Amino acid sequence: MRAHAPVRSSTSQLPDNRQETQSQRLFIKTYGCQMNVYDSDRMSDALAPKGYETTAAPDTADLVILNTCHIREKAAEKVYSELGRLRVLKEARLKEGRPLTIGVAGCVAQAEGEEMLARAPVVDFVVGPQAYHRLPQLVERAHDGERPVETEFPAEDKFEHLPQADRKITLGRGPAAFLTIQEGCDKFCTFCVVPYTRGAEVSRPLTQLLAEARALVDAGVREITLLGQNVNAWHGDDGTGGTSSLGRLLFALAEIDGLERLRYTTSHPRDMHEDLFAAHRDLDKVMPYLHLPVQAGSDRVLKAMNRQHTAQEYFELIDRLREARPDIALSGDFIVGFPGETDADFDDTMELVRRVEYAQAYSFKYSQRPGTPAATHDEQVPEDVKTERLARLQALLNEQARAFNAAAVGRTMPVLLDRVGKREGQLAGRSPYLQAVHLDAPAHLRGQIVPVTIEAAHANSLSGRLAETTGVADTGEMKGDAA
Ligand code: 5AD
Ligand code: SF4
Repeated sequence: MRAHAPVRSSTSQLPDNRQETQSQRLFIKTYGCQMNVYDSDRMSDALAPKGYETTAAPDTADLVILNTCHIREKAAEKVYSELGRLRVLKEARLKEGRPLTIGVAGCVAQAEGEEMLARAPVVDFVVGPQAYHRLPQLVERAHDGERPVETEFPAEDKFEHLPQADRKITLGRGPAAFLTIQEGCDKFCTFCVVPYTRGAEVSRPLTQLLAEARALVDAGVREITLLGQNVNAWHGDDGTGGTSSLGRLLFALAEIDGLERLRYTTSHPRDMHEDLFAAHRDLDKVMPYLHLPVQAGSDRVLKAMNRQHTAQEYFELIDRLREARPDIALSGDFIVGFPGETDADFDDTMELVRRVEYAQAYSFKYSQRPGTPAATHDEQVPEDVKTERLARLQALLNEQARAFNAAAVGRTMPVLLDRVGKREGQLAGRSPYLQAVHLDAPAHLRGQIVPVTIEAAHANSLSGRLAETTGVADTGEMKGDAA
């Protein structure tokens, strides 16, 4: 399972000021989930020692990497369209005598491997998500005229071999950082490619994660979102010969001074364990927001999806979460038109949504993914039925999101100002419930958590003003006021 929050379309860190005389420019275009955003940053970290500086403009780049997503058909097709556009750029650049190297990374690269070289002659190298630490060598081989493909799952741990970003680069990426703690998935939902493209579950060891988190915080990071395809299945080596759990990892991370906010995504309902509820109950640093996909509301469909839980079990988890943290905001993923889904099954999904009341959610039409069990099911749902169901579901989810945002108006809540806004003099940030918040604020407040009084709710964001009474809180998450 993978969260599909909007992502930056390219990495655009502050320039690294290494004294390289012959610096090269790198542009990475990121598709898909936050795990790809994290990977793109780590790829640029891997290439920085070779003199690569990131650029936000592909036409000024010497090396372009597409970090791809394979989760739904449309995601993969977008990659091939982009490669078509890059072919034109590459040809123009060749005429100017400034060659452009093009690599494809991520899950499409992993799934297609060698085939990608045949289908897209513009591609110079292909690298799967487990081999990013080998990027410098792959780029060199591409420069030597080879077209290397690296989609094996290497024996070595890539995280041991990927360099940590230097402080300045980390700072340039803002005060809210991602940290991948596990990769892969053993759940095998019948619609999903992830177990095939990302492989079996691997959990990074506790000590490695604590060290990476401390380095992020030392560089000014205030909020860390722990990432994993199945993040709450994390069971890393605890350093004493045993394995830990996500709940315990959150307790350990909460001890780090200067780290004010913790989030994690994406979770599977089957892996919600006791100590995770305890973390939500006991740790103010764990934000009151959880993305907990259910996919469907009908037990018959859930079974056919191999989700390994019923709707009732999901409701019980939601009740326990709300007991642990009454103001918790919920998010989810939904698939409509899974093979065999009837009108009655779809009504169960609508009913589940009404009962849970989501703050925000993602919903998709079922998309046949080659190699997955559901793709060859004979009862595929016609496209027009999927379209109609998706529209009805999205209308309901949007109504709930609007109501959730509207309830924030008039409240004062702590906002981590993590980026500049669109207008001059504006900053933007996130509420504890992950709502985007825009406000006028002096630039030096970027990176801080400040109290903001919410004045208006829009379709996908809130706007407000710095709260007058408390002034600026530059340490700690302020307790209180729920949306
Ligand atoms: N078709 C449609 N949606 C899918 N997802 C995963 N695979 C498919 C598919 N084949 C959705 C699920 C998952 C999210 C990341 O993408 O809802 O949670
Ligand atoms: Fe999530 Fe299921 Fe896909 Fe695993 S197989 S990543 S649990 S949707």
